[in-house]
Amino acid sequence: MFTSGENDYREWRAERLALYPGSVRELLVDIGGLKDVSARSKAAILASCRHANMAIYTCRDRTADRAAVRAFGEIFGLRQLDHHLCTNDDGVSELAVSTGGQKGEYVPYSNRGLSWHTDGYYNHAQEQIHAVILHCAQDSVSGGESAVLDPRIAYIRMRDVNPAFITAFEHPDCMEIPANIGEQGEIRPPVRGPVFSYSDAGTTLHMRYTTRKKNVRWRDDATTTAARECLADLLEDEAGPVLRFRLAPGQGIISNNVLHNRAPFEDDSLQQRLLYRARYFERIDSS
Ligand SMILES: [Fe+2]
Repeated sequence: MFTSGENDYREWRAERLALYPGSVRELLVDIGGLKDVSARSKAAILASCRHANMAIYTCRDRTADRAAVRAFGEIFGLRQLDHHLCTNDDGVSELAVSTGGQKGEYVPYSNRGLSWHTDGYYNHAQEQIHAVILHCAQDSVSGGESAVLDPRIAYIRMRDVNPAFITAFEHPDCMEIPANIGEQGEIRPPVRGPVFSYSDAGTTLHMRYTTRKKNVRWRDDATTTAARECLADLLEDEAGPVLRFRLAPGQGIISNNVLHNRAPFEDDSLQQRLLYRARYFERIDSS
């Protein structure tokens, strides 16, 4: 689709736009629990992933642990976990406010907002994150809303405005993340690559993106700058295709690493937000 002729693309575009949810309600699927997914619920999650690259599930059974998150992923063909800096040994991270240690230095482990991004945009090309599960064990007292957008819709809207924006975002030098240097030296070398890349003979889109201004170097070129502005405008458009929700305990989102952000939140001494996050090198098997 992404590398084929204009006629094929037009047909695919029309289908994508027709199937894309007009409301977050269309993403919702009820399940028994993370280890108790009926054939019907599984089919609904997979259909939602084909339409929007994501589904939001609601568990009847509120008990869940990291092992259950892994078991849930395996139902959808997700097995290769990214064991990055702050994950536990099993590859599942616990996102909660951390006041000390290595985690405390990173925004996901704070109550601050997270700007628009896809997960692992700082990973090497061979270790890109293609799927993510985010399960809410406990919500915050207030705040913490999320917004999401299927990268295919971002692609379509940008190509509608100017096809040259797509070419700019495909450039291998488009976005560079400088090295992560800790007190002990280099934690991660610099990573440079495109925003948009394709697999499966050009039928699958992968997006690597962050709106953050610090610790990112964009290709210095007028079209790239205009492409970034176009995307930023789309993501901030209240009347646009961005979908918004707030995860309740027992809810989670399974996605092919869609664009997302997070609003700041507040905990108190009795209630502290806890999300389990698993990031995978595979995509959800929705074939
Ligand atoms: Fe994220």
